[in-house]
Amino acid sequence: MRCTVFGTGYLGATHAACMAELGHEVIGVDIDAGKVAKLESGEVPFFEPGLREVLRRNLEAGRLSFTTSYEEAAAFADVHFIGVGTPQKSGEFAADLSHVRAVIEALAPLLTRPAVIVGKSTVPVGTAAELAARARDLAPAGDEVEVAWNPEFLREGFAVHDTLKPDRLVVGLERARKGQAERLLRELYADLVSDGVPYIVTDLATAELAKSAANAFLATKISFINAIAEVCEVADADAVELSDILGHDPRIGRRFLDSGLGFGGGCLPKDIRALMARAGELGANQALHFLREVDSINMRRRARMVELTRQTCGGSVLGARIAVLGAAFKPGSDDVRDSPALNVAGQLQLEGAAVTVFDPQAMDNARRVFPTLGYGVGAVEACSGADVVLVLTEWPEFRELDPGEVGRAVRLREVLDGRNCLDRTAWESAGWRYQRLGSTS
Ligand code: UDX
Repeated sequence: MRCTVFGTGYLGATHAACMAELGHEVIGVDIDAGKVAKLESGEVPFFEPGLREVLRRNLEAGRLSFTTSYEEAAAFADVHFIGVGTPQKSGEFAADLSHVRAVIEALAPLLTRPAVIVGKSTVPVGTAAELAARARDLAPAGDEVEVAWNPEFLREGFAVHDTLKPDRLVVGLERARKGQAERLLRELYADLVSDGVPYIVTDLATAELAKSAANAFLATKISFINAIAEVCEVADADAVELSDILGHDPRIGRRFLDSGLGFGGGCLPKDIRALMARAGELGANQALHFLREVDSINMRRRARMVELTRQTCGGSVLGARIAVLGAAFKPGSDDVRDSPALNVAGQLQLEGAAVTVFDPQAMDNARRVFPTLGYGVGAVEACSGADVVLVLTEWPEFRELDPGEVGRAVRLREVLDGRNCLDRTAWESAGWRYQRLGSTS
């Protein structure tokens, strides 16, 4: 079958490449000619393990191409996915839908025959119905245009796996018209469904909300364990052992129960805020009030890390040399959007510390966002002369560091493990004072 994917960021580029991997003919569309040129030449403009191989294989097979031309895309296929970003509006909690709307405004007037527009972006509930009305207004095909919502649950770092082996496929359809959208999407995903992936058909609002609710649940789970970690710190208990104990209960589960510096990235923080904003607009403000607390528990972890660093430096970081290992919001990614690690690094610098950052993948992005921070060429080099070393993203490279070697580079053997990822015994045996969030010892 044929389809197009509008937007070639993490979501769109992955979806386009993976739809081609399923055997479909796909055109990826972006207004950014630079991105299109890069993808056309087989380069992924961001770090995502395994995506380059899928991209190249399908470019070579002739099933996948990229363009900036909406005309070409509209003529090519009758199913058009939208995978553009919905960032947080500046100064507000609400999502900025300008990119999604811009796709509809440009694409719909070109739809001269029956077509299905399939949203994948995370949007406030109610958006899809509004876009459907607008698309039918603008399209020469009018009533023959349908909108479906097929939210994407992929994680950065596992994007290819999560797209080709998803936990579930959710397809929201317009209530009054379960026509071509239902049929075409079933055909497009037929291989995944025959592999046993649950395929859930619902209405537009439920599909939109399913994504926001999933992210809100995950954020709540992380903030729950971080709130308990705060109690551990004053009660002389151990948050890591506590997570393991809770995780044995299958009703709770061990996954997403890692306490530490909290969540960041382009999704969880902005999605819980957008969900609160939308619930408020709809008159259900109180229902999600607890998400404010989820957000503030999360932000408090960053402040707590800064405080622990201050204490370690004798009450102030002014003039201290601090090594920060990690800049990406999580390992396996070069994404620094709302990165807890960079947020802490920036705060320490504001307080007068000389901060040197190292990350295995996110150096370019970090430099762009925080040009004034110092950057090392490797983990050990970044620790040179440091009074304290902070590990803020749990890259495997940092777990595997030799504490003896790092110890010879630093001025003082003080390590703060913001992600509970280091082998405490190994570091202590090499003469380090080891501290972490969620424990007093
Ligand atoms: C998330 C959702 O998992 C995904 O389903 C959705 O489609 C997009 O948002 P992603 O942002 O890629 O994916 O990252 P994820 O792996 O969920 O991690 C989010 C943040 O939570 C990271 O900063 C991570 O370090 C943090 N985290 C995760 C914890 O602090 N503790 C945990 O136990 C798990």
